[in-house]
Amino acid sequence: MARVTIERLRHAYVAAPSEPAHWALKQVDFVWEDGGAYALLGPCGCGKTTLLRLIGGQLKPTAGRIQVAEHDLAKLSRRDMYAARRRMGMLFQFGALFTDLSVFENVAFPLREHTKLPEALIRDIVLMKLDAVGLRGARDLMPGQISGGMARRVALARAIALDPELVMYDEPFAGLDPISLGTAAKLIRQLNDALGITSIVVSHDVQETFLIADQVIILADGKVAAQGTPDEVRASSDPLIRQFVGMDMEGPVEFHYPGPTVEQDFGIEVAR
Ligand SMILES: Nc1ncnc2c1ncn2[C@@H]1O[C@H](COP(=O)(O)OP(=O)(O)OP(=O)(O)O)[C@@H](O)[C@H]1O
Ligand SMILES: [Mg+2]
Repeated sequence: MARVTIERLRHAYVAAPSEPAHWALKQVDFVWEDGGAYALLGPCGCGKTTLLRLIGGQLKPTAGRIQVAEHDLAKLSRRDMYAARRRMGMLFQFGALFTDLSVFENVAFPLREHTKLPEALIRDIVLMKLDAVGLRGARDLMPGQISGGMARRVALARAIALDPELVMYDEPFAGLDPISLGTAAKLIRQLNDALGITSIVVSHDVQETFLIADQVIILADGKVAAQGTPDEVRASSDPLIRQFVGMDMEGPVEFHYPGPTVEQDFGIEVAR
């Protein structure tokens, strides 16, 4: 149901009419098949979050077409867009929980916002979702009383509260220890398979996402730099891809933001 097709997608952010446009996405084409788990990787600032926000309908693209299930997003009225968004779950990058709401109420939030379900049913759904992430017992705690890793899992339960057909996870593993990270990754894969959803995981954790993804897309400089199964991407001879997946330390992506040299800034000779 939730196949995603992106054609000739371009997106520019314009700070002010007098300022030059900043092209976050220059040319993006791909298809995400229904029910697949996809990893979307790429260096900071390459446009991953922008792409998710375009698919989620929170941004309108400068050019190109985005099709989610039967919807061409550009052709939807406000109301239909709202309905289409109900079918997508999103775990936002840095997306915090509402600090003044309990764990239970955080997960119930999308249900209250998008449905008129009776309270008893909301309770059952929330407890089911919390059970899926292993936190049914934590329902009455406040966000301030749970660990960062638990908070990510509550956010995950909230992202799947409405039984979405497509779930987009923006950095779901940020700040997790290796064990919680592995658990969260497996959970995403299990939810994908058990609920038959299409999942998209944006992450800088190459190893972990390669383990759970059917397909990998690497964005660089606003374009798709590589696409394929994890094994295909690992076997790539492209220097940028090799550097990015951690095969080579050195490569075309510079670690330092362009600026004066160390010698210029500190007035010293540096041994290299
Ligand atoms: N609201 C905005 N206004 C102007 N420019 C923006 C805005 N949001 C993002 N950008 C710019 O667009 C580019 C892509 O940003 P985006 O957040 O999509 O990157 P990203 O791949 O998600 O990076 P990260 O891995 O650091 O989260 C960056 O150069 C960023 O500075
Ligand atoms: Mg981002």
